[in-house]
Amino acid sequence: MRILLIGKNGQVGYELQRSLACLANVIACDRKQLDLSNGSTISSLIESLKPDMIVNAAAYTAVDKAEAEPDLAMQINAYAVATMAECAKKLAIPLIHYSTDYVFNGDNQTPWLETDNVAPINVYGESKLAGEQAIADSGCQYLILRTSWVYGTRGHNFLLTMRRLAREKDTLSVVADQVGSPTWSRHIADVTSLIIAQSLSAQSNENFWKQHSGLYHLSGSGQGSWYDFANDIFEHLKQQGETVATLNKTTTSSYPTPATRPLYSVMNTDKLAQAFNLRLPDWKDSVALALSELD
Ligand SMILES: NC(=O)c1ccc[n+]([C@@H]2O[C@H](COP(=O)([O-])OP(=O)(O)OC[C@H]3O[C@@H](n4cnc5c(N)ncnc54)[C@H](OP(=O)(O)O)[C@@H]3O)[C@@H](O)[C@H]2O)c1
Repeated sequence: MRILLIGKNGQVGYELQRSLACLANVIACDRKQLDLSNGSTISSLIESLKPDMIVNAAAYTAVDKAEAEPDLAMQINAYAVATMAECAKKLAIPLIHYSTDYVFNGDNQTPWLETDNVAPINVYGESKLAGEQAIADSGCQYLILRTSWVYGTRGHNFLLTMRRLAREKDTLSVVADQVGSPTWSRHIADVTSLIIAQSLSAQSNENFWKQHSGLYHLSGSGQGSWYDFANDIFEHLKQQGETVATLNKTTTSSYPTPATRPLYSVMNTDKLAQAFNLRLPDWKDSVALALSELD
């Protein structure tokens, strides 16, 4: 099997290169090989490679910058994705894609379901939602894995930033009134590969995708605020004997950013568990494991 992996250098893309390698011949592209801001090259590349599956880990993920670059965010997160989905339909191959908790407005008290109303409150969320809708409208077989608060041991992310600031600063304030579920990029890649492995061992690969095609929530179990996430990182460093900054709580209103963020974006992952028997561990366990790799 040949899998075309788009966005190989991102947090999730990098981990996918590792986890998909045991399953298939992976043709992994970075921005140089396939620039999603140039719509005309996407279908010609896919049609010339004729992969058996497309996994798209590339995205415009700069949430604040997107407010000033809505056209570019839409091109990469929606129009480029629409082209991938059209190609997947034409070649009759599945498309695996990732989306975000930021499709929700944050106005909820219980974990969001896949069937709940979407109402993004920033440009990034709007562009990702448009990507989801384009895939669903294309008629291809697909998996959209909506995930949240992604971190990893490389790239730019909250875990690495807080680990650095804990060491550099004397005091630090982190928002305590936005609640979500941190998710390790490695686990996103592992779940993706395990689902593909299930499809390969199914009696009929075609039926597997027909039966399971759809949207699923995929995030770390449990919930916490950005402050809780930071506190966990700080406590880990303290246990290693490090002196760290004093951590204080702040509020969203006293920490204004160009993009508005949902206050509550915890997602219910039961649909994924029921369909594939897969559920991520408690987010704190995953953070501990990721941090231990950096020690
Ligand atoms: N990060 C989060 O907290 C978060 C939360 C929820 C959902 N998600 C979703 O999860 C998926 C993976 O996110 P991630 O955190 O792994 O993202 P990431 O680390 O920011 O990586 C995104 C990748 O997309 C590539 N890319 C950006 N613009 C491109 C273009 N014009 N052409 C080709 N490639 C381009 C980047 O290439 P370069 O390396 O060249 O920049 C990078 O490799 C995305 O769909 C994202 O929307 C992420």
